[in-house]
Amino acid sequence: MDHYFTSKPAGERSTIHATLGGVVRELVTARGVFSGERLDPGTRILIEHAPDPHGLTVDVGCGWGPLSLDAALRNPAAEVIAVDVNEGARELTAENAARLGVTVTTATPEEALQLVGTRGIDYLISNPPIRVGKSELHSILATWLPRLAPEGAAYLVVAKNLGADSLQRWIEAELGQPCVRIASQKGYRILQVTSATSTAGPER
Ligand SMILES: C[S@@+](CC[C@H](N)C(=O)[O-])C[C@H]1O[C@@H](n2cnc3c(N)ncnc32)[C@H](O)[C@@H]1O
Repeated sequence: MDHYFTSKPAGERSTIHATLGGVVRELVTARGVFSGERLDPGTRILIEHAPDPHGLTVDVGCGWGPLSLDAALRNPAAEVIAVDVNEGARELTAENAARLGVTVTTATPEEALQLVGTRGIDYLISNPPIRVGKSELHSILATWLPRLAPEGAAYLVVAKNLGADSLQRWIEAELGQPCVRIASQKGYRILQVTSATSTAGPER
């Protein structure tokens, strides 16, 4: 069975409607990408609670692009990089960005690391791929979260029943970065992670 996180291109296309940037939009999705039939409820809750993006903005695991597209719509001045291992997901995100007339750069994780280089990430947003397994998930987060700029912040949505609370503890203990829950709704936790060298401190 194919999983949404394989690198295979997405299957048959369809259009859906979802509120992004505060307005209902028509978007293209496909079978084989995560939540291809609707905006994922966790993603919607993340969009509702995360502050506006700014500066170098990275969406880790972009799927068909909802978080990247919403970020680019909310702040066209942000430099938005949409990262996914799935080629079909990257294609859909690029197609949706063109439809909405926003600028989003799609990239594989390796390409995205090159694009970011030694710059600090100002804003990171993710509905991370929990189902890849704990060790892969930890490796993804250990790749991206330490790259936050000193005043940068990451916003993650994780279902409570998929281990949000233990992930929060792991981020603090293993990455040494402040991680606080800023919202809890319908079984989803919204976590805010800041830099280990942050002078501002997380929202409490
Ligand atoms: C839970 S889905 C979220 C998709 C989209 N952001 C949304 O909210 O609908 C997680 C995404 O992470 C991608 N993914 C899996 N492993 C990854 C990795 N190592 N780096 C980047 N993305 C990855 C999957 O292909 C999938 O599209």
